[in-house]
Amino acid sequence: MNDNTPHTTQHTTQRVIVIGGTSGVGFAVARAAADRGSDVVVASSNPERVDRAVQRLGGRAEGVTLDVADDTALAAFFSRIGEFDHLVYTAGEPLVLKPLADLTGAEARTFFERRFWGALLAAKHATPHLRSGGSITFTSGAFATRPAPGTSLGAGITAAVEGLTRALAVELAPLRVNAVRLGAIHTELWDSTVPDPEAFLRAQGSALPVQRVGTPDEAAAAYLHLLHNGYATGTVLTLDGGASLA
Ligand SMILES: NC(=O)c1ccc[n+]([C@@H]2O[C@H](COP(=O)([O-])OP(=O)(O)OC[C@H]3O[C@@H](n4cnc5c(N)ncnc54)[C@H](OP(=O)(O)O)[C@@H]3O)[C@@H](O)[C@H]2O)c1
Repeated sequence: MNDNTPHTTQHTTQRVIVIGGTSGVGFAVARAAADRGSDVVVASSNPERVDRAVQRLGGRAEGVTLDVADDTALAAFFSRIGEFDHLVYTAGEPLVLKPLADLTGAEARTFFERRFWGALLAAKHATPHLRSGGSITFTSGAFATRPAPGTSLGAGITAAVEGLTRALAVELAPLRVNAVRLGAIHTELWDSTVPDPEAFLRAQGSALPVQRVGTPDEAAAAYLHLLHNGYATGTVLTLDGGASLA
């Protein structure tokens, strides 16, 4: 059998945009892409965080201050950036974990702003600038398929992101669109989510088959796989330490 089908995209200097790339998982993705020789652009809303991330990433990185809740700013960002190869979207705020009865309408709607509407509109504005062989990778979470009481917002958003991933993989083809479904990862996100992040993450980890939570670098490896495997589209890659089985 003649198997000349390319299984991976070419790696002549690629350009990778990471929205949410100034912290946690997104920063680890940016660093892994830069280590692989890509030019990276990290974007997020806090200018100090952007500066710090660019310094930590060194020579190959550019930083842009961008609030994904601002549709006009998103459109302007992609027009200014020009052509690139891969969009990774990890922007998100600390989780709202509450019983349905305690959720207000305003906070429920606001929570979709960054993680869902921002993702959808980033994809819309990015698409005209993505080169042939390019990809978009979104971020989902374990609550999409394994919710717990108090996670209705997180479960709703992650399931919505996974639906968006499949729809855009069909609509934007041959551009590839994927998502990583993350379980608990030890990042700065938890500092503003729970009072004692170390104890919380230790307890979360001990309940998992791997007996610990994940690292940003482990998460980044899943994104890099989806970026560079030319056969992956419409894929939701679960990286959760076995949470879906526990
Ligand atoms: N860590 C986990 O255990 C876990 C598990 C499942 C899913 N997730 C999801 O994975 C994604 C990344 O998580 P993480 O742990 O890496 O979080 P993180 O360390 O808090 O990073 C979040 C990033 O989003 C950016 N961001 C927040 N609001 C933004 C806005 N309005 N516009 C642009 N950028 C914005 C932040 O930068 P600025 O503050 O500068 O804007 C930061 O760079 C999030 O969506 C999170 O919900 C995380």
